[in-house]
Order: sequence, then C-alpha cells, then structure tokens
Amino acid sequence: MSFSDHGDEMTERKQLLIVAHAPSPNTLRLREAVAGGARHEDVEAVDVKVLPPLEAGPDDVLACDGIILGTTENLAYMSGALKDFFDRSYYPCLEKTQGLPFAFYIRAGMDGTGTRRAIESITTGLRWRLVQDPLVCKGEYRAEFEDQCRELGLYMAAGLDAGLF
Ligand SMILES: Cc1cc2nc3c(=O)[nH]c(=O)nc-3n(C[C@H](O)[C@H](O)[C@H](O)COP(=O)(O)O)c2cc1C
Repeated sequence: MSFSDHGDEMTERKQLLIVAHAPSPNTLRLREAVAGGARHEDVEAVDVKVLPPLEAGPDDVLACDGIILGTTENLAYMSGALKDFFDRSYYPCLEKTQGLPFAFYIRAGMDGTGTRRAIESITTGLRWRLVQDPLVCKGEYRAEFEDQCRELGLYMAAGLDAGLF
C-alpha cells in the first residue's frame, strides 16, 4: 500500500521519512547512522528525508510511505520535541495513515521503557504498523549503537524498496 501520491506513476519511488530528535553529538551520530543506512547504495528507489521533530508535521507524514522515529528519553518519556510533533500530527493523520509502516529508536541514559511505552501507545492509536523491533540504545554510549541504527535505517529502506511493507 502506498500512502503518498506524487503523481508520477513511472518512477514509483518510495518516500522514507526520518523524524528524530538529536540534541547532542551522540544523538546526531545516531540520526546520521539511521539516514546512512537508509541511503545504502543497494536501496534503489527510496528517497530519504530527515527532519528534526520541530520541523516535521502532518504534511510530511501524509507524503511518506514509511517513517522512522528517533528520540532521547527525557524524564521517563519521549523528548518534548517528538511529543510536539505527535501533538500536531495526530488528528490530521488519524484517518489517513492507518497501516503506515514505522520503526523507532530511543537513546536513553539508563532506561527507555517509559518512552517505548509512550511511542507504542500513540502509534497504536494511529494504527501505524511496527515493522521492526524497537531499538533502545541505553546506558553509556557505545559505537555499536551506530551500527544498530544503520541497520534500522537499511532494513526499513530495503523493505520499502522491495515492497515488503
Ligand atoms: C533533562 C533530562 C532528563 C533525562 N531523563 C532520562 C530518563 O528519564 N531516562 C533515561 O534513561 N535517560 C534520561 N536522560 C538521559 C538522556 O536520555 C541522554 O542524555 C540523551 O539520550 C543524550 O545521550 P548522550 O549523552 O549519549 O548524548 C535525561 C537527560 C536529560 C538532559
């Protein structure tokens, strides 16, 4: 199923949207790793758009075929920035994006469960379709988080490319 209508039936390129909060050097690395994976050279017909949550809104969601969300955990919840994105996007998207394939990652200093629960709750309300296990990069920062994020981006983009979702 395609959620976007770009008026160009010849190319059928898929649109992958990455909405991720990156307030620190480490979280910027994670966001870039997700985008880098999604832009892997083996992925042929997927366009990748990366936006900070405060710059993303319902029009971006309505124009995409799949979405990856990224956030820090702050005070046992998703970042205020990602919450604001949902606050602005929820009702405009509710009737139009059911089944939208999505994945998400969380950078948490020590926990991540509150954020995971919150994202699962909101996306259940939206009836989006989780297509990959949530990735929680928790504890002291490790370079392997970047590998995991790259895989997340690649899996999502490759799945869209192959028409799996
Ligand atoms: C105000 C504030 C609240 C935070 N609350 C939590 C929290 O509830 N749970 C948690 O695991 N980490 C928490 N953290 C840690 C952040 O998730 C972490 O600093 C962020 O992901 C950036 O990671 P980095 O140091 O690798 O850049 C908090 C950080 C800040 C600044």
